[in-house]
Amino acid sequence: MEVYEMEVKEIRIGDLCPATFINQKIDKIKESVRKGLAVNALSGGVDSSAVTVMGYIALGNRLKTYFIDTGLMREGEPQQVATYFEIMGIPIEIIDAQGRFFDALKGLTDPEEKREAITRTFYKDVFADLIRQSGARYLLQGTNYTDVEETVAGVKRQHNILEQLGINTEEQFGYRVIEPLVQLRKPAIREVAKALALPKAIYNRPPFPGPGLAIIVKGEVTPERVRIVRKATKIVEEVLSDTGAFQYLAILHEDKFTGVRQGKRDYGFQIEIRCWESADAKTGLPTRPSYDILDLLAEKIPTEVPGVVSVTYNITKKPPSTIEAE
Ligand code: XMP
Repeated sequence: MEVYEMEVKEIRIGDLCPATFINQKIDKIKESVRKGLAVNALSGGVDSSAVTVMGYIALGNRLKTYFIDTGLMREGEPQQVATYFEIMGIPIEIIDAQGRFFDALKGLTDPEEKREAITRTFYKDVFADLIRQSGARYLLQGTNYTDVEETVAGVKRQHNILEQLGINTEEQFGYRVIEPLVQLRKPAIREVAKALALPKAIYNRPPFPGPGLAIIVKGEVTPERVRIVRKATKIVEEVLSDTGAFQYLAILHEDKFTGVRQGKRDYGFQIEIRCWESADAKTGLPTRPSYDILDLLAEKIPTEVPGVVSVTYNITKKPPSTIEAE
């Protein structure tokens, strides 16, 4: 993987005045889009939610906000995100792009190839179409400093990094990208989201990556394998959400394991659980859940997720691990 220069300058949380930052970014969005239209990519995470509110304050109904249902989201996520924004009076539209993403991922097993396919489908297919249909010339998105840093350093290609990899979005996709949060890391973005009066359920939301469940499925991403990891994710989030951890996830492995159920061989799947303590995702420590919690996960996952016969807990730090497996 190529290594690029880091050109963006970080604003550290100690130097951030959220109100001033917000006003400056709103002015900047107005200045860039002028009297035109912009398309906005909302995933429901803290980053894209903060951008959505700033974009809406700047542009009102000239901002077209879309939630792309990639088929790689958690259970009930598209409707839940739509409801949050409906309550705030910000119109959003859910776009069903499941078929496009599963087609693009067919046969791919290499993590960087999977990430590439997701980037291409988002930007070259789905957003390029939406932009063409709406007549907009700009795409707003919530890229943050850590996303850029890891991608330019060659650690892994975060799905939303384009211009920093030398991609000319105007030439290649027909629109320019506006990234108001690119100088901030997650804790600073949470302060901005709080100042924008977003609900706590959003400004405190644990990170969940744009490529969604695709990068916690080792190997090929099929609808069937996504269903398994989605069920395991639901259990892990229910059990670990009170721990106050930075992020927690369930990974579906490719290898199969011999298990036994009701005295008979059951050759099934393995789920690996990770639960992280971290300030900004740059480094991380595995948390130390009580054995009661681990026992509960070991009981619930093989019982409630068909086909799973093995559950492990990862104890590696970042580095050398990364937070997610891919
Ligand atoms: P890693 O796995 O590299 O992740 O330690 C660091 C943080 O970034 C999130 N992540 C992503 N976020 N697009 C995103 O928007 C991506 O492609 C992506 N990959 C990883 C990850 O959830 C963690 O919080």
